[in-house]
Amino acid sequence: MCGIVSYASDKDVIKRIMTGLKSLEYRGYDSSGIAYIKDDNINIIKREGPIKNLDKVLDYEDEAYVGIAHTRWATHGKADDINSHPHRQGKITLVHNGIIENYAELKKELIKKGYKFKSETDTEVAAATIDDLYNKYNNMLEVLSKIPSILKGSYALNIICDDKIDTIYGIRKDCPLIVGLSKTGNMMASDIPAILHVTNKYIVLDNDDIVVLNKDNVKIYNNKKEEITKKIKEFDNTEEVISKNGYDHFMLKEINEEPEVVKKLISLYTKDGKVKDLFNIKKYKNIDIVACGSASFAGQIGKYFIEKYAGIRVNVYFASEYRYQTNFFTKDTLVILISQSGETADTLAALKLAKENNIDTLAIVNRRDSSIAREAKYVIYTEAGIEIAVATTKAYLAQVLVLLFLAIQGNKKEKDILDELKKLPNIMIKYINDYDYFKIAKLVKNKEHVFYLGRGIDYYLSMEGSLKLKEISYIHSEAFQAGELKHGSISLIDEDFGVISVVTDKSISDKTISNLKEVAARGAKIISITNNKDDHFADYKILLEDYGEVLGPLSVIIPMQLLAYNVAKLKGCDIDKPRNLAKSVTVE
Ligand code: F6R
Repeated sequence: MCGIVSYASDKDVIKRIMTGLKSLEYRGYDSSGIAYIKDDNINIIKREGPIKNLDKVLDYEDEAYVGIAHTRWATHGKADDINSHPHRQGKITLVHNGIIENYAELKKELIKKGYKFKSETDTEVAAATIDDLYNKYNNMLEVLSKIPSILKGSYALNIICDDKIDTIYGIRKDCPLIVGLSKTGNMMASDIPAILHVTNKYIVLDNDDIVVLNKDNVKIYNNKKEEITKKIKEFDNTEEVISKNGYDHFMLKEINEEPEVVKKLISLYTKDGKVKDLFNIKKYKNIDIVACGSASFAGQIGKYFIEKYAGIRVNVYFASEYRYQTNFFTKDTLVILISQSGETADTLAALKLAKENNIDTLAIVNRRDSSIAREAKYVIYTEAGIEIAVATTKAYLAQVLVLLFLAIQGNKKEKDILDELKKLPNIMIKYINDYDYFKIAKLVKNKEHVFYLGRGIDYYLSMEGSLKLKEISYIHSEAFQAGELKHGSISLIDEDFGVISVVTDKSISDKTISNLKEVAARGAKIISITNNKDDHFADYKILLEDYGEVLGPLSVIIPMQLLAYNVAKLKGCDIDKPRNLAKSVTVE
């Protein structure tokens, strides 16, 4: 949700900023812009649309020595050049990730003081607010120490002040910001991939930390303006992050990494047929799983496993609703937050609500050092490696596996399930290679509407299959409980309607198949991802082996992802960066 990069160096400032910015395009691609200092002047260039539009008009030979840049996911005001960052007011030029919630009231006051605004953004108001404070205090450290009490909402800001143009200032609240350190210069960025072409050494900033950085030095202060020392970390998987490794898309690369993710999680979190001492959910009587999008669909599968194997009641909520509903917290409640990025604003807000109510919080998170990982009382990492494609694949799978581990701990089937699970990597490799997904995708490509149907765990899987299909191929798709369809929604079905079904759960497959026959009787053509060899309920089957109650459902994940991928590819969609989306949603 917006990416920022800044860099101060003697050399290649524009080039390195742009390389970093391109690696953050997954955070937003509505527009982009850069401000850089050359011959003591500030140059600001902004372009609507993806970063390549900005790239085309930049002169890489320009000898800049300081720059800040931004790739935008539009919130306030449409995606045009004027609303693009950087924004400038008075002596202040800045880029911003986040939302300034009190921007309207600040703007009113600033207009009274004579400020004029060109854009519709909250960011330009932040620039004017900082300029106004700077006029009063004439000292940027003083100004930035005041920011948390003035700007409400969330922000990561990189700022240049005209009075000290060799310096970049940074501050954050509830939006990620790291500092990259190198001998050739220093950087700030929203995420690690943006610094790896310069350095693998970085510092993770906390809320209200203030950064004052130039090409030779980085100083970090707390909100009381005291200089502080922070741990320097090293990232050691640089190659893995920045290359597609020969695949056409990051999404395809990440799907192909799933067998290794399974192996890694088995070796990290299990030993001798038992789950290692991960976290004891048995202490709790109620569990709320709170997450957004695919992470919440992983949560639904977690609910299924935890209720079945641990016997604990679980409710799954979308994080965007959780804060505004009536919650029934008791001393026996555990709130599990699931997030790939660890930065999703709604999930973070739900976590804070649980903490305020003194409820234990367990985060299941992919990104180390992320806000959710650091704020939760307990954390388990999903260890899927950095995911670049906007549509999640390997991180979703890893979330499901961690939830399975939590659920089966101490159950009499624990050893059998873990023994079975060891087969999953090879099953996944087989399903990556065995099917002609392109051919199957042709059956879906021209559909305007699709129902993804299933019952029980097959329905929970369908939720993710359906989201994957719609978000990258732009075909309208809904997951539906197969048995519920006849209570109204079946009226939508005709011969043009697409139906994809998931049928793996033997205990209920007869019922699902009856529902599918009802749909077929209304003319719909059905593609089924199933382990049922015999029954003729589908026009096309992606036939899976019958792997039993855990492996069976888990083996559906790769075919669902590859089907969506191939439909999007056939339609010529921008698979890694679907329209209107961003990977890390740091606004509510
Ligand atoms: C869909 C997808 C999203 C995310 C959701 C939560 O492919 O990736 O639905 O699952 O935005 O993001 P995280 O997991 O980062 O909290």
